[in-house]
Formats: sequence, structure tokens, C-alpha cells
Amino acid sequence: MRNSNDGEGSRSGSANGSGWSRRTFLGTSFGSTVAVVALRDTGNAQSPAAAASPRDKIAVSLNINGKPHDLSLDSRTTLLDALREHIGLTGSKKGCDQGQCGAYTVMVDGQRVLGCLILAAAVQGKEVTTIEGLTGANGALHPMQQAFAEHDAFQCGYCTPGQIMSAVACVKEGHANSADEVREYMSGNLCRCAAYPNIVDAVLDAKTKMEA
Ligand code: FES
Repeated sequence: MRNSNDGEGSRSGSANGSGWSRRTFLGTSFGSTVAVVALRDTGNAQSPAAAASPRDKIAVSLNINGKPHDLSLDSRTTLLDALREHIGLTGSKKGCDQGQCGAYTVMVDGQRVLGCLILAAAVQGKEVTTIEGLTGANGALHPMQQAFAEHDAFQCGYCTPGQIMSAVACVKEGHANSADEVREYMSGNLCRCAAYPNIVDAVLDAKTKMEA
């Protein structure tokens, strides 16, 4: 009759007369496995697992609103976080942080981009413009900023920097020729206060001044 110890064979001797027991086998196997892992790790000094961590800081040079900024960043830092957390330009807002609300819209080489979905390192060598960069050196508001103020195109104002950056690009793209066109090409910028009618009025008004 077998019992729970049968699997051990003989604790002190051989189960089959060869001098090998289950314990001897397990001990030997474990030792071999450790040796193989150690050799593998030694031989993989150049493997991807041993490559630099993304947490390691990298040097990133950005041109923001005409000024150079030399930063040391985690390589995964988004443009939005670089602006807000490392440069102190907090005009661009963090909304959904998933590219769906547009509160973080900035311009890169004149094109509107979602600052939360692009890495800071990816815009090196390019000209980044934020809401702070729209204002003239003498403090004069950009025509789009002025139009938003005159048309009450905001309530809480959280979406406004992104709306204005997107609106400026919308006009420059030639996509502000009617209210319907403005609504279509500004549809990526959400406003939870639902100031949409006034935003459209402001964009159309500013367009005439930008093109004058
Ligand atoms: S003004 Fe409040 S979210 Fe647009």
C-alpha cells in the first residue's frame, strides 16, 4: 500500500539502487537552473532589458515662444507636462489628458497639436507656440484673445487657452469661412460650459481682423 511518503522513495538511500533520490534530483536540477540563469544574465549585458531605463533623464532642448529652454527630462515627458511642470507655462491646460478635449492645444511650427499626446523630445528643433506666446511683447492681446473677451466666449475659462490656439490655427488654415466651418474645424475643442455660440462669433470676428 502506497502512502504519502512513497514519492520520496528512500530518504537516505536509493529508490532504484542507482544512488539517485527525488531529493537529489531536485537539488541538482535547481542548481543547474540557477547556473543557467546566471550565465544567461551574464551573456545578456547588452540585451534590451539591460538598456537605459526611460526614467533616466535625457537632455531636451525646446524652443518655446521664441525662447530656448534646455531641460533634463524623463524621456516619456509629454510636451504639455514639459510646459507646465518644467518651464512654468501653465496657460495650456490638462483636461482629459487623452487627446479628446483640446484644452492642451498648442502650435508646433504653426500646426495645432495636442500637447498631451506628443513627447517633448519629439518637438526639438521646432517652434512651439503656447497661449502665452500669442500676446505681443507690449502686452497687447492677439485679435483672437481680444475677440474672445469681447464676445464673452467663455465662462469658467478652463478650455479657453486651447480654444484660442485652435481658433488661430483654424483661421490660418483657411477653415473659418462660415459658422458651420468653424464649428466643424473647432469640434476637437470641447467646452463644458457650452459657450459654443459665442466662441463661433469670436472666431468669425477675429478672422476679419487677422486678415485685415
Ligand atoms: S468656458 Fe468653461 S469649459 Fe469652456
